[in-house]
Amino acid sequence: MKRLFRIPRRPPVFARIIRLPRKPPIVVAIYAGSFDPITNGHLDLIQRGSRMFDKLIVSILRNETKDPPLFSSEERMEMLREVVGGYSNVGVDSFDGLLVDHAAAHSATVLLRGIRAISDYEYELQMALMNRRLRPEIETVFMMANEAYSFISSRLVKEVFGLGGSIKGLVPPAVETRLRLRLSTKKQRGA
Ligand code: PNS
Repeated sequence: MKRLFRIPRRPPVFARIIRLPRKPPIVVAIYAGSFDPITNGHLDLIQRGSRMFDKLIVSILRNETKDPPLFSSEERMEMLREVVGGYSNVGVDSFDGLLVDHAAAHSATVLLRGIRAISDYEYELQMALMNRRLRPEIETVFMMANEAYSFISSRLVKEVFGLGGSIKGLVPPAVETRLRLRLSTKKQRGA
């Protein structure tokens, strides 16, 4: 019997997904944040990232719209350089504007983000999907920091230290020294 209409043939699966560029020969990842200051949680993630990607650039957001930072971007860069010096494939940079544009300027194809707890997930998901919308060829990769650091944040470190609590083991020793100096200068100024 002759068919009255043609059943359209479905295209093969691979033709229906969004086509993305292939893996570059050298995978560059950007680990961006405020790092005010860098904690051992950040450092743990940098160590893990340095083992996974050919090059990892730790990038400080210069113009904080949230709270004014305790350390200037130059100071944060100095602290970062001091603590990542041992990793030959890790660099330090700073940026303004869109993170995905900064990543593209470095030919980076990965944005590395740390997840500490499920509470981080919603904010991180929003950012990852927005960044994907802006530049689909840049992938966000989430990594879990060591559970020993899952409760640490720069904000809490500053608060506890400011109130006289111990932050031993939570930040690199060089950062603790800087915090102590900054706190004593603030006290002298009566701030
Ligand atoms: O670890 P943080 O401090 O929460 O880092 C947030 C950061 C710097 C990754 C985020 O604020 C950012 O990417 N800012 C740059 C501006 C931008 O690209 N905004 C759109 C993000 S979807």
